[in-house]
Amino acid sequence: MTKITPHDRLTLASGGQIPLIGFGTWELQGSEAYDGVRSALEIGYRHIDTATGYGNEQLVGAALRDSGLGRDEVFVTTKCPPENAGRELETLDQSLSLLGVDFVDLWLVHWPPDGRARPETWAQFVVAQDQGRAKAIGVSNYSIGQIDELISASGRAPEVNQIPWSPYSYDPSQAAALAERGTRLEGYSPIKNSNLEQPVLVEIARAHAKTPAQVILRWHLERGFIVIPRSSKRSRIEENSDLYDFELSPEEVSRVDALAG
Ligand SMILES: NC(=O)c1ccc[n+]([C@@H]2O[C@H](COP(=O)([O-])OP(=O)(O)OC[C@H]3O[C@@H](n4cnc5c(N)ncnc54)[C@H](OP(=O)(O)O)[C@@H]3O)[C@@H](O)[C@H]2O)c1
Repeated sequence: MTKITPHDRLTLASGGQIPLIGFGTWELQGSEAYDGVRSALEIGYRHIDTATGYGNEQLVGAALRDSGLGRDEVFVTTKCPPENAGRELETLDQSLSLLGVDFVDLWLVHWPPDGRARPETWAQFVVAQDQGRAKAIGVSNYSIGQIDELISASGRAPEVNQIPWSPYSYDPSQAAALAERGTRLEGYSPIKNSNLEQPVLVEIARAHAKTPAQVILRWHLERGFIVIPRSSKRSRIEENSDLYDFELSPEEVSRVDALAG
């Protein structure tokens, strides 16, 4: 449906360019984290998603350094845990030190602290962005109402909202509400929250000689959603980025859309 290349990026409100596909690192520890990030970078991913809460920033940083890629070649996201509200800038210092970088490309509030928008926390994110230590700032797991609270308090919209997303949770009204606010939708758990044996996905995959996981990920690209699949296996890390030699027709995109509840 759309010509998309591995180099395609979306522009964030503050001007940064985020690659549509990133490598997720939740639950990757020890050699799985280090080797996973090394493999992803070798295969061609240029976007890595970690978090203070994942406990793997040091390994992610080592893999980044050992990859030989320049700092400006890889888009790095980390996240501040909700329990660190009130200690946001210290948390960022620690992330930068563990990652071994001077700035992150995107820093997210991992969850609304105590389930609330918490504009005081967002104000600290704005400080970090003004200092250049977080090039872009955003949130994760926030509702539209909570994002609006942050906008009214600070005048600065989160540039990204990272939320659970897949064909099964596709909600065009939520996507449109984020777009209206200039907030990019970044989907997480695209594979885990899908049924890879679903007949529509299997049929479309067969028609293109691809896998159902690749159909799901390609659907994100066609729809302009950032997506960050994770795998501990090099073959799947490769599979999950091998998305550029086929396209979904408009009819196929609609059939995948229709999997939503
Ligand atoms: N902001 C948040 O609150 C939040 C929450 C959850 C996740 N995230 C981020 O989003 C990333 C992705 O989400 P996720 O890790 O929850 O789930 P996911 O990427 O949807 O799924 C990962 C699971 O799917 C398997 N898998 C991966 N590729 C596959 C393929 N091609 N075919 C079959 N199975 C495949 C993996 O197993 P193997 O390892 O065995 O391949 C793993 O068990 C995370 O790593 C993290 O960076 C953010």
